[in-house]
Amino acid sequence: MDHIKEWEAAFADALKSIARRSDVKACVEADPVLYPLLRRAAARFVTGDARQDGLTIARNLSSLGYRVSLEYIGENTTDAEECNAAAREMEELIGDLGSSRMLARVSFDLSHIGLRIDDELAYENLMKLAATADKSGIELFISMEESAKTDEILAIHERAARIHSHVGITLQAHLHRSEEDARKLPANSLVRVVKGAYKEPDTIALPRSGKLNERFLTITEQCVRNGHRVSFATHDESLIEEAIARKWPASGRFEFETLYGIKPDLSAGLQEKGQPVRIYLTYGREWYLYLCHRIAEFPPNLYRAVTAMIGGEELRPRY
Ligand code: FDA
Repeated sequence: MDHIKEWEAAFADALKSIARRSDVKACVEADPVLYPLLRRAAARFVTGDARQDGLTIARNLSSLGYRVSLEYIGENTTDAEECNAAAREMEELIGDLGSSRMLARVSFDLSHIGLRIDDELAYENLMKLAATADKSGIELFISMEESAKTDEILAIHERAARIHSHVGITLQAHLHRSEEDARKLPANSLVRVVKGAYKEPDTIALPRSGKLNERFLTITEQCVRNGHRVSFATHDESLIEEAIARKWPASGRFEFETLYGIKPDLSAGLQEKGQPVRIYLTYGREWYLYLCHRIAEFPPNLYRAVTAMIGGEELRPRY
């Protein structure tokens, strides 16, 4: 079995690298056979191409007692008009969520709304979204991207959070710098702690390991102690058990957050025990990189993806 694990690890690394290549992505998207096949595989993790697909599943989950996050998928947008169009879509989404009774939040990558072109464009779009979100009673959450962007993303978050306390930030526990970044967060921050999805060199990040889990807990502990509102975003059951043992959910400023389609039974089990659980939903046509990440971080997903592709039906998660 060791050779299968080795093959899976090598495959995961290769997939993370190839996922970032725009020429490969363009080829896949233009391929009339491959694209619809991959779309079927993506249905396990992505609600659909349209906002209504995301909202419909959000309503279902909300009626089951879950909180939700919604992301209009996209990143590394290099055309200013496309960045502004993405921001407009997010404003519409905020408006729709605001008029619903859901405990909802909108998440996004700053590189979807301008960071690849100019920090100021990303900041201006973020501020427009924050103003709309303020009126609608919706929280905004900034995702964390590759380490080359961490400084810019944290700086933009800090500027925005000084004005809008409902703008949250994601920290990746795998980066060596994140303990320090957590210490520097503005008072009363909204923070999501994740392990980290991007391939980073050992000099700046830890691989999946016991050490990484310890750091995940240290960062969370620090955020809880500092009174921040924390989303504990992982599917790692040992971490979740530890969070419950440390009574973090009892603070009322703590929740678990999982990705739609990953371990739905785990989320349902937590929810049944009365723990606060949020499910992170995505929609949109830019699901290719998202699908690559979800397969790379758990290579056995490849087998299920192939089953969905050749089986001819979408495999939707059940909560
Ligand atoms: P780990 O990868 O160790 O997995 C623990 C267990 O969970 C696995 O053994 C497996 O059973 C299960 N599992 C994990 N991934 C799975 C998958 N894809 N399919 C099936 N089972 C799986 N990253 C980032 O870099 N920037 C960000 O902004 C975000 N945002 C974000 C928001 C939310 C709400 C979540 C939950 C995650 C993110 N991530 C992220 C992704 C995150 O960094 C990480 O890659 C994934 O959560 C997987 O890591 P785990 O913490 O689950 O641990």
